[in-house]
Amino acid sequence: MTSEWAPDSRVVASGRPPRVPDAPLNTPIVPASSFHAEGPLEYARDGTPTVAALESLLGDLEGGTAVAFSSGMAAVNAALDAVPAGGVVVAPSRSYTGTAVRLRELDSVGRITLRTYAADDPTALAAACSGAALVWIETPINPTMEVTDIAAAVRAGHAAGAFVLVDNTFATPLRQLPLSLGADISLHSVTKFIGGHSDLLMGALITRDADLAEFLRTRRVLLGAAPGALEAYLAVRGARTLALRLDRSEGTAMRLAQSLTSHPAVERVLYPGLPDDPGHQIAARQSSGFGSMLSIIVRGGAEAADHVCLRVQLWTYATSLGGVESLIERRRRWPAEATTVPEGLLRLSVGIENPLDLWRDLDAALRGG
Ligand SMILES: Cc1ncc(COP(=O)(O)O)c(C=O)c1O
Repeated sequence: MTSEWAPDSRVVASGRPPRVPDAPLNTPIVPASSFHAEGPLEYARDGTPTVAALESLLGDLEGGTAVAFSSGMAAVNAALDAVPAGGVVVAPSRSYTGTAVRLRELDSVGRITLRTYAADDPTALAAACSGAALVWIETPINPTMEVTDIAAAVRAGHAAGAFVLVDNTFATPLRQLPLSLGADISLHSVTKFIGGHSDLLMGALITRDADLAEFLRTRRVLLGAAPGALEAYLAVRGARTLALRLDRSEGTAMRLAQSLTSHPAVERVLYPGLPDDPGHQIAARQSSGFGSMLSIIVRGGAEAADHVCLRVQLWTYATSLGGVESLIERRRRWPAEATTVPEGLLRLSVGIENPLDLWRDLDAALRGG
């Protein structure tokens, strides 16, 4: 697909079969484990036509070569396999729990040496980079929404000889392009905004480095982390409407964030779209939008926050994010969540319902109605 088209055109047009008579417009679900010999596929862990369609779409959007995995965590593990034995991984002191727990596990058995930085201190990352093999960034961070300056992290990481990975799940390829900012790998939980309908698990890594792409593809084969054809089909189908979904949910997120800042039940709103948010300026510089995720810290701690989750009627009390349906969750209900995340923090994944209805439902739940 030609890069002269805007991203919201390419998200519709890329990753399709060739335009020849009677070819289907969409790559079909190909439920095969084995293919006739001597072609490029041979066996489904190496790839299938349906998975290749998603990879072509994501590679085009992010500007690199994409390798799809069976989940975001499978992608996390494949990327971490690129770190040499005992190598230093510089990562935020809090981030998506699965990643944080895995990094600690690998550190505890000596597979990596974990060095954490405080993502709310702009100088901390560069100070931690010396001797690093990998710099891991998640921006914005799940669930505390800190924003990391990708270009600055790339400068510090590359100066130390490290490769730099950005978990781009919250921002999506339509809002932030880490590879264009110099990062070596962009990671997605495709489960979230790209799939967009809370009906699949998938992950992806995208890189411009051909050797790294080959290494990551081999990791998929050897870790057995290949996505299914149905999931890949659903992910492509879901991605077609990403631009529309994001425009809508991001607009609502901004409106909610603004209204929630003066809500009597809310202590703090964490959303980089707010002009006084600590991450606002960097996010405005490196992203084309502030996204559809926000967190609020409610007054009254865990108990008050749990009540909000149980009272909402249009919002859904459930984990995960990025789907058409708005989800709300108190993150500290998970024992693995960082203890620096406030007990009363509610993570909001804003969907595409009527913005006023979302506000009315949330407002009523916050007021105890
Ligand atoms: C930022 C981030 N990265 C990675 C993952 C892991 O993705 P998956 O659940 O698809 O394995 C998640 C899941 O919530 C996430 O939020």
